[in-house]
Amino acid sequence: MDQRPIGVFDSGVGGLSVVRELCRLLPGEDIVYFGDVGRVPYGTRSREVIYRYASEDLRFLRDRNVKLIIAACGTASSVIDSALTDRLPMPYTGVIEPTARAAAAATRNKKVGIIGTDATIRSGSFVRALHAIDPAIETVGQGCALLVPLVENGYIDFENKVTRLVLEDYLRPIRESGADTLILGCTHFPLLAPIIGDMLGEGVTLIDSGAATAGYIRELLRQTGLENPRTEGGVQRYYISEHTETFARTAELFLGHGITAEYAVAELP
Ligand code: SIN
Repeated sequence: MDQRPIGVFDSGVGGLSVVRELCRLLPGEDIVYFGDVGRVPYGTRSREVIYRYASEDLRFLRDRNVKLIIAACGTASSVIDSALTDRLPMPYTGVIEPTARAAAAATRNKKVGIIGTDATIRSGSFVRALHAIDPAIETVGQGCALLVPLVENGYIDFENKVTRLVLEDYLRPIRESGADTLILGCTHFPLLAPIIGDMLGEGVTLIDSGAATAGYIRELLRQTGLENPRTEGGVQRYYISEHTETFARTAELFLGHGITAEYAVAELP
């Protein structure tokens, strides 16, 4: 048993889809969240820059006495390697493996679509994770650079014409591939799940990286004995690297309630 908080970070608000699911599954756990809204999006940057940002984010949480760190960001999870995580004194997980496991379990025709940021798709991280589970799975990946700014700016209404038009283009190769399962490989995308589900129809199962990761964390805490003995009353503390007008508004859309965030910067010394 361990009463320390779980550390969660993302480039912006998307990681709140993991926080939302953690609060639902593990209501007794305390959470420290860092959203690097001052530098979002990560997904259009080079691997080197994403790696540096991710190192700084990991370090920020490591220094906050957390018992476990989650990179609740598809892009950061795609570049973080053992050179970074071996240095951590606590367990670490990104969103790639938990989400790939859920997708491999869901697909019936072994065709899995992946949407993520350009950096995530370019890294091949989801394809490697899926093939490690089942090499017979066929994949089709689509980088969706415009979706993160749309979500960060709250363009998520079911009827939003701009978002639907952009998605129409991005989802075409997924549709044409006949995939029966689609990984929402960026933690911002669960907010678009109702629109994506409507556009692809019931035959395609959407895999929410936030929900898949939270389910994995529940198991991990049980296996490692790191659960909080409390079963309710967990407290969430939020840090952001810039106060933006949109953060609080979009955070409310993710969580269903308002939050207060403190200003903090993650930097290597
Ligand atoms: C981004 O910062 O571009 C998106 C974060 C993600 O991939 O989850």
